[in-house]
Amino acid sequence: MINEVLFDNGVRRWQFIGRDADRPSELIDTNEYLVTNNGKGLIPDPGGMEIFPAVVTAISEEFAVDNVEVLFASHQDPDVFSSLGLWVKVCPGAAVWLSRIWEKFMSHFSFGTKFHLIPDEGGVLPLGGSNDLQIIPAHYLHSSGNFSIYDPQAKILWSGDIGAALLPPDHSGVFVSDFYEHTKYMEGFHRRWMPSPQARDAWIARVSRLEIDMICPQHGAIIRGEDVHRFFQWFSELELASALHI
Ligand SMILES: [Fe+2]
Ligand SMILES: [Fe+2]
Repeated sequence: MINEVLFDNGVRRWQFIGRDADRPSELIDTNEYLVTNNGKGLIPDPGGMEIFPAVVTAISEEFAVDNVEVLFASHQDPDVFSSLGLWVKVCPGAAVWLSRIWEKFMSHFSFGTKFHLIPDEGGVLPLGGSNDLQIIPAHYLHSSGNFSIYDPQAKILWSGDIGAALLPPDHSGVFVSDFYEHTKYMEGFHRRWMPSPQARDAWIARVSRLEIDMICPQHGAIIRGEDVHRFFQWFSELELASALHI
């Protein structure tokens, strides 16, 4: 597993944990992140149940999982959180945040779990006494109840599936090195999975006015620096798929 600190100001810390090189090839690779504030942890999109042992082991080397305060699901996909039933057992004190529309669906992964339901308009995500993490609507990209997270301290936009890339097995870089080369790994995913130009444009309008140093997706490499603007430009111009063309 890769383990790289993305930001640390002594209070807030973002750590990139993943990907899992030893996962079975049938599973899509996922990026895992640990965000901490004053010793309390947030795990966005904790991942599928098959990779749970690798993820919990990697996180436990750095951080007591008892101190995980928030488990956050951007949306309902199995690669996002089919590990839900396992996570709530190892950190029973954590609150599980997800879109209000997915409660009854996600309960199939962990019956009886009480969720903190996020309204469509998003809001604030408290962590370790802080109240500056923002939950930003990203509906229909690709899920009908979907959110990004923005951290104004780290200037990190955690974007879930948006900005995701399906990288070849020999591509292990944490960051995008050549953006235009990288678009070939993003294009098919965004075209097929995010077919709504209105949803795309609304999200770009929301996030492009934020100060962003890094876009951290759930799959693929982290987009940083000048490439952040390049990504918004590329995504805004991408011809998206339509059901008529499939
Ligand atoms: Fe997804
Ligand atoms: Fe995903």
